Amino acid sequence: MGLFPGKGVVYKPVRDVDLGPQSAEFYLQANVKAPRMAGVLVKIFNWFLELPILGSLLLYVLKGNNLIHKLITLAELEESPLYLPLHHSGDLEEKQVKCLDSALSPPEKVELAIDCLPVYSEEIYDEIKPSFRRWTIMDYCRAYRSGDITPRMVAERFLAAVSESSEPTLNMSFFIDYNAQDILRQANESTLRYQRGEPISALDGVLIATKDEIDCLPYPTTGGTKWLHKQRPCTDDACCVKRLRLCGSILVGKTNMHELGSGTSGINPHYGAARNPYNSTNIAGGSSSGSAAVVSAGLCPVALGVDGGGSVRMPAALCGVIGLKPSFGRVPHAGVLPLNWTVGMVGILAGTIEDALIVYAAISGEIPSHQRSEIMPKMHLPLLSSTKSISDIKLAKYDKWFNDCSDEIKTCCSEALNKLRDHYGWKIIDVTIPEIEVMRLAHYLTIGSECSTSLDAFREKNFAELGWDTRVALNIYGAFSSKEYIKAQKIRNRQFQFHNKIFAQADVIVSPTTGVTAYPIQDDALKTGELDYVNGAALVRYSVAGNFLGLPAVTVPVGYDKMGLPIGLQFIGSPWSEATLTHLAFAMQAISESEYRKPEVFYDLLRKIN
Ligand SMILES: *[C@@H]1O[C@H](CO)[C@@H](O)[C@H](O)[C@H]1NC(C)=O
Ligand SMILES: *[C@@H]1O[C@H](CO)[C@@H](O)[C@H](O)[C@H]1NC(C)=O
Repeated sequence: MGLFPGKGVVYKPVRDVDLGPQSAEFYLQANVKAPRMAGVLVKIFNWFLELPILGSLLLYVLKGNNLIHKLITLAELEESPLYLPLHHSGDLEEKQVKCLDSALSPPEKVELAIDCLPVYSEEIYDEIKPSFRRWTIMDYCRAYRSGDITPRMVAERFLAAVSESSEPTLNMSFFIDYNAQDILRQANESTLRYQRGEPISALDGVLIATKDEIDCLPYPTTGGTKWLHKQRPCTDDACCVKRLRLCGSILVGKTNMHELGSGTSGINPHYGAARNPYNSTNIAGGSSSGSAAVVSAGLCPVALGVDGGGSVRMPAALCGVIGLKPSFGRVPHAGVLPLNWTVGMVGILAGTIEDALIVYAAISGEIPSHQRSEIMPKMHLPLLSSTKSISDIKLAKYDKWFNDCSDEIKTCCSEALNKLRDHYGWKIIDVTIPEIEVMRLAHYLTIGSECSTSLDAFREKNFAELGWDTRVALNIYGAFSSKEYIKAQKIRNRQFQFHNKIFAQADVIVSPTTGVTAYPIQDDALKTGELDYVNGAALVRYSVAGNFLGLPAVTVPVGYDKMGLPIGLQFIGSPWSEATLTHLAFAMQAISESEYRKPEVFYDLLRKIN
């Protein structure tokens, strides 16, 4: 490689690429050329990057070494660029679903979602005997209705737990901001509604946290920085937050995140490294790190995140919870920091898939006046009481990609998948998904260019206040040209076509969620953040299609590695097929949940008083 990039790849026309199991397409492993850096090394590296001429040269070499020149900049592609991953609704036929009228109010939608849940009975739980399970929305709702406990008491327990988790011994760094007074006020109002026998919905009094990238009053939206909220004050709730408030939920504050969503570790030099409840010396994963960790630790049954490059699914998998990223356009983006325009989507982190479904129903649906509402298909909700009767599901699996992860993840995910197939009599179809590494680079270039553009106005004034790892990231993001951006969109078009062909044969694509489990937080990273592109690439390996192609995807916990750290299995659906994905996640959860383990850091907010 070196300084002179040589020739670019000439891509074959899509119609000539074989997607079958025997395809001659080469599986290119991510060959990331960048050593791990933290502490003073990151600062020196950044200093070089910001030097007038040398910096540009260094960026040029980095791009070359990481195959960007060869695979993208100089590549020849016949496709036209595709800028937005919006799919026309077409004729999606889903099994065991019901239609959700978009004109309904959020509380009405919640009610319909609850009608889809399997009938709850204590006996079923006795029969399955999950060794550990988190309290669900329905558990809270029943407890409040019975009067055993009030939202006020739960809010008090929550505040005590957060304060305990923030003590130096644990130092979990779950939240960037939370306001006891505001939380107790909401809890009192909800408590009164229950006392009057008039709760608004099953979400009334249920605690929900939001990533600090989503507007939620009375908090500033920092995006994990020390300055963005001063430049962009938060004046209103985001649309998804408004909908949750209409349901009576208690919004409990802003969770920690990787600064500007620009990394996958969740180590934030300003607000602390969000820690993994399964082992607090390890990362929670990013960028929605705090949202995954609070759900995992039992502090709230559900939290909102944003997923621009796996940012909901990766931390969910690392913290052993559900992470649902809906189709691009499914949840309105109003009130979410515009760090990029074509890859990000609000997502849901939850202890169970049922809870993810309830909140999905509450927050989904375009604002009626919005231009995109016409192309959005009707929303379907899955009838989870009938998941068992769905017989002919086909799961597409690309072996070389599926197996490109740690041995423990490979074994655990394969076993889970085989159990799923055997239990339901579903089929696994072997396929080839070409050019996955090219797609990863094209997505990186896209999200990077968009993020850099969105923050351009602040470059002179505020970048000195960024953490060092984020500053490096933004310097790299700013290095892409318009030609490279457009070629990346041509690659988006190719992948669109490949994936559409695969979805013509299969209902979903299945893969592990991450290539590695949560790794240890090293001391030298705490103040500067760290650059670890090798682990970063392994974390994001399976996430990209969900963002670059706007596909819905969900991760389900399916086991643990030797150290007891969680492992997730991912289903990627065809456009708008959230209902089918939820069926699959529900089926997988039913098989795995008897093995679920309690995290080391866990708070039981519904415990009986005695
Ligand atoms: C892209 O945007 C999404 C949502 O706005 C966010 O979660 C993600 O962190 C962003 N990523 C970058 C690199 O800007
Ligand atoms: C937590 O992780 C650290 C580092 O990965 C390891 O040394 C330690 O043994 C783990 N703790 C437990 C309880 O497994």
